[in-house]
Amino acid sequence: MKAEIIVDKNYIVGEVDRKIYGSFIEHLGRAVYEGIYQPGQKSADEQGFRQDVIDLIKELGVPIVRYPGGNFVSNYHWEDGIGPKELRKKRMEIAWHVVETNEFGLDEFVSWAAKADTEVMMAVNLGTGSISEALNLIDYCNIEKGTYYSDLRRKNGHEKPHNIKTWCLGNEMDGPWQTGHKTAYEYGRLASEVGRALKAVDPDVRLVACGSSSSSMETFASWEAEVLDQCYDEADYLSLHQYYRNSDHDTPDFLARNLEMDQFIKDVVSICDYVKAKKRSKKTMLLSFDEWNVWYHSNGIPFDAWSEHPHQLEDVYNMEDALLVGSLLITLLKHADRVKMACLAQLVNVIAPIMTSDQGAWRQTIFYPFLDASRYGNGTVLNTIVKVPVYDSKTFTDVPYLDSIMVMDEEKEEAVIFAVNKNLEEGIEFSCDLRQFKDYRLAEHIELHHEDLEAVNTEADPFNVAPGKNTATVFDSGRLSGCFRKSSWNVIRLKK
Ligand code: AHR
Repeated sequence: MKAEIIVDKNYIVGEVDRKIYGSFIEHLGRAVYEGIYQPGQKSADEQGFRQDVIDLIKELGVPIVRYPGGNFVSNYHWEDGIGPKELRKKRMEIAWHVVETNEFGLDEFVSWAAKADTEVMMAVNLGTGSISEALNLIDYCNIEKGTYYSDLRRKNGHEKPHNIKTWCLGNEMDGPWQTGHKTAYEYGRLASEVGRALKAVDPDVRLVACGSSSSSMETFASWEAEVLDQCYDEADYLSLHQYYRNSDHDTPDFLARNLEMDQFIKDVVSICDYVKAKKRSKKTMLLSFDEWNVWYHSNGIPFDAWSEHPHQLEDVYNMEDALLVGSLLITLLKHADRVKMACLAQLVNVIAPIMTSDQGAWRQTIFYPFLDASRYGNGTVLNTIVKVPVYDSKTFTDVPYLDSIMVMDEEKEEAVIFAVNKNLEEGIEFSCDLRQFKDYRLAEHIELHHEDLEAVNTEADPFNVAPGKNTATVFDSGRLSGCFRKSSWNVIRLKK
């Protein structure tokens, strides 16, 4: 099979906001406890933060982490997680039917985020929470001193404000499973009031309103329109959530799922722009795809009700999951003009690229495409046209066998092509006219491939699926050519 990739450095999609390489830590399963926090574990520091996990997160270069949920946040009262640990109360955690010890809370997360070189994206409880609870939280976090809550933070050992600038107005409030689930009107009104109050305290905060928790929700589209009708002026971003599954073990159909993400983004952009026009607003709503990933391997596994941090949602990812994650990253980049924030859900142990045991931490297959995109997908996204044969699958028609996007970083004098070959039988011989980059040289062609699409990484065999180099690629007289191996993720880096 052959493909041609067509780009022109003047045909620009938009600038990459590094916050699209964000992630998510929820009080769920072993994400916090035994994930990022495990006092006494051999790599843990004096605060109980696991250094082995921090090292892997730094390797991924995650610029922002959403916290503390997720479904968890909709009945979480943040004051339970501050102050002397011995006085903190254990609470029922009704989203995931466990006991929350509250040993780890807001102040610990802020300290951890500083050590992990990442920014905090704070979600407020709009399920059972209130406007005043959200106000007390921002007072505690962002006011320097002289109020009850800012002085309480200082008393708790944090003299400087946490200065959190990105706030989520609740989580998945369209979902009937959500504690305090609301209609679009009820939620939109509340989001508007809370948003106005938070901006009255700190006008520099950026707020994310809840969109739909998946494009398959019955209320999808009307939810977005109504919510934005109510809170367009206060919100800066609208959220999108979507998880992808291969429950039928239909790989061609599964690998086409990024078309669903693409359509979801296009639909949400249209709704945002419709409300903008209706309101004669000058503001363009940005998108925050703040939960996305493959999630289905762990479904149906029973867990111990009311135990403390049991193993929950511990998907073990395989090679084909890494391919879809690569295509999903390419899709996010294709919409770099509007998707300005995104969170791979989640970061450690819970549907995550990083897994831990008491002994150590290792990289799942999906770690690698995320790492490459975060490391090399910076700068300007070019409109990338791919001429390649297409296929039909159970759910989709005209699925291109090759997904690709080019990103150039003029400041660093780098250009990179990301590509996923979805052809399970044969390689794709590609060529690309890059005469505009002829003073560049080929730095490397990174390739992630495994003959077995179900191959995984485990503690015992942590590098079973790991990237290698494709040394056959050629960049000569401004033409790039080579072959993308069957079912592979590829990164071709050019440097001046
Ligand atoms: O990420 C796991 C869960 O998925 C989150 O708690 C929730 O927001 C979503 O439904």
